[in-house]
Amino acid sequence: MAGQAEKVFVPTDDELLQAQSNLWRHSLCYLTPMSLRCAVDLGVPTAIHRLGGAASPSELVAALSLPASKLPFLARLLRQLATAGVFTSTDAGTYRLNPLSYLLVDGVLIDGDASQTAIVRAAASRYYVEAAMGLADWFRKDFDGPVPSPFEDVHGAAIFEESMALLDPEMDQLIHDAVAAHDHMGIGPVLRQCSELFEGLETLTDCGGGDGTTARSIVEAYPHIKCTVLDLPKVMDKVLLPAEEGAVKYVSGDLFHVVPPAQAVLLKLVLHFWSDEDCIKILAQCKKAVPPRDAGGKVIVIDIVLGSVSAGPMLETQHLMDMLMLVMTRGRQREEKDWSDIFTKAGFSGYKIVKKLGARAVIEVYP
Ligand SMILES: C[S@@+](CC[C@H](N)C(=O)[O-])C[C@H]1O[C@@H](n2cnc3c(N)ncnc32)[C@H](O)[C@@H]1O
Repeated sequence: MAGQAEKVFVPTDDELLQAQSNLWRHSLCYLTPMSLRCAVDLGVPTAIHRLGGAASPSELVAALSLPASKLPFLARLLRQLATAGVFTSTDAGTYRLNPLSYLLVDGVLIDGDASQTAIVRAAASRYYVEAAMGLADWFRKDFDGPVPSPFEDVHGAAIFEESMALLDPEMDQLIHDAVAAHDHMGIGPVLRQCSELFEGLETLTDCGGGDGTTARSIVEAYPHIKCTVLDLPKVMDKVLLPAEEGAVKYVSGDLFHVVPPAQAVLLKLVLHFWSDEDCIKILAQCKKAVPPRDAGGKVIVIDIVLGSVSAGPMLETQHLMDMLMLVMTRGRQREEKDWSDIFTKAGFSGYKIVKKLGARAVIEVYP
């Protein structure tokens, strides 16, 4: 048997060296988010922006008031982040902002307040990292009753719940800020590239609509639409908005119990947080809220469809987003066949993937 195994796999020298290099890369790539967080905490992207969009390591040491002795170390950090695609290195020995690092500049505006620094800080926080470090222990445990996420198992608290605010109010706020940053980016391309979604629509309920940013963007682009935002009372209380603001109405409630009626219901980045069983319950409530298909009723789901891209960094992003759901929540990212099953089980007659936008997709689901 041993002889057979040797015959099956004998790597060449080149393969062996390549494998070792890949193993180093996979074992060490956790340092990239740590370097990125360091750059964000130091304010490197904002400093490069203020220095005109490109800066040398010595200009940055001065601009950030770092000790001169740290110059060689900052140069190494910037070099690694440039290799990872966070900055662009130039022949002049400077580092330029690129579209990614531009999103980490304080106060940057693209379709609203776009700064994504909270995502970097949350993802590279001790809470997220410790939850991921608990994965093997979590796999070995046989839980009685509902299976908690590794995050809940390690920290004894669940994100977005009161338990997290009690455990660490600052981290709770950072998680909310990270999710808001993540959610707010991306509605612009939907409005510009999927106008057919909104044609003929007079009313829409944004279910789990958070602070109403998406709804306000919709009514700004399509002023004939009246929007209702539904979210939990604790979110609505924090937002401190009037119950009604122009064409946007804010309603406190629970999407498992009742969804305010409208021609269309939007679920943007909501379902990936929930188990299949919970998604079916949520979608069943949404179905009750919209008119039949021939009267224009529909549910619009904006979420990742795993495999909507076939290879490369975007596919890796989709699978990392699924691992994030595995570690942090009881939900998951879904392939098209998983979405199709859920829609059918919730009583819908069909669906159409309207557009693939980056790592996400826009799906119309018909009653
Ligand atoms: C990931 S956020 C998505 C926010 C928003 N759709 C967006 O894309 O900007 C999920 C939202 O669902 C809300 N939510 C969670 N459970 C809910 C429930 N039972 N009823 C209503 N809203 C809920 C959360 O408070 C949060 O605002």
